[in-house]
Amino acid sequence: MSYLIAPSILAADFARLGEEVETVIEAGADVIHFDVMDSHYVPNLTIGPPVLEALINRLPSLSVDVHLMVQHESDTLVRNFISAGCSYISIHPESTTVPFEILETIRKADVKAGIVLNPDEPISNVDPFIDYIDYLLIMSVFPGRGGQKFIPETVPRLREARNLLDSKSTQIRLEVDGGISAQNIGLVAEAGADMFVAGTAIFGTPDYSQTIQHLRSQLGCAT
Ligand code: DX5
Ligand code: ZN
Repeated sequence: MSYLIAPSILAADFARLGEEVETVIEAGADVIHFDVMDSHYVPNLTIGPPVLEALINRLPSLSVDVHLMVQHESDTLVRNFISAGCSYISIHPESTTVPFEILETIRKADVKAGIVLNPDEPISNVDPFIDYIDYLLIMSVFPGRGGQKFIPETVPRLREARNLLDSKSTQIRLEVDGGISAQNIGLVAEAGADMFVAGTAIFGTPDYSQTIQHLRSQLGCAT
């Protein structure tokens, strides 16, 4: 499976968001990671469907990975993101009473569906969802804000997740999110991750193109 680099716009300059997204895509990013926080599931409050829609209007071929950190997730909210034009949506399954229905809604719309596991949630939690998802997102920090330190115990967890997914012979992607940088991207890839979210490590640098190339070079691919 190819590697995907997904800059998290949480670390972008929100006052120039369209420009930031355009620049990071031109710099070689594959997907934009779009962190949605509702001030209930996590204390912070970020962005929603209208912002996603505005970005897609500006860049129609943009591939956006929506990470919902929302309490009481609902079909309605998910449908709003689908209409706005995203390509991936992941949910924290414990935040809703109807995770299977939501995952089905996402897939029926031809959008990739994922579930997210926090650092303190067992990997085996993915088991009941295997037939409902296209990707599994393993958090390498506790959700809530960008710029946190990567939790090293994530590496064996990714290995466990990769083994579990391989044992089911699925095409499910393994995404990792939180504190990813050139220092650990090689490690998490070796453990089985193939989709890498990086906020601060990309938007916190002056030359996104050089940074993304550097991240890719740690994966053994130059472009
Ligand atoms: C944390 C978010 C992450 C975060 C990543 O709640 O889900 O996507 O913004 O940012 P960095 O790479 O700065 O840890
Ligand atoms: Zn995220």
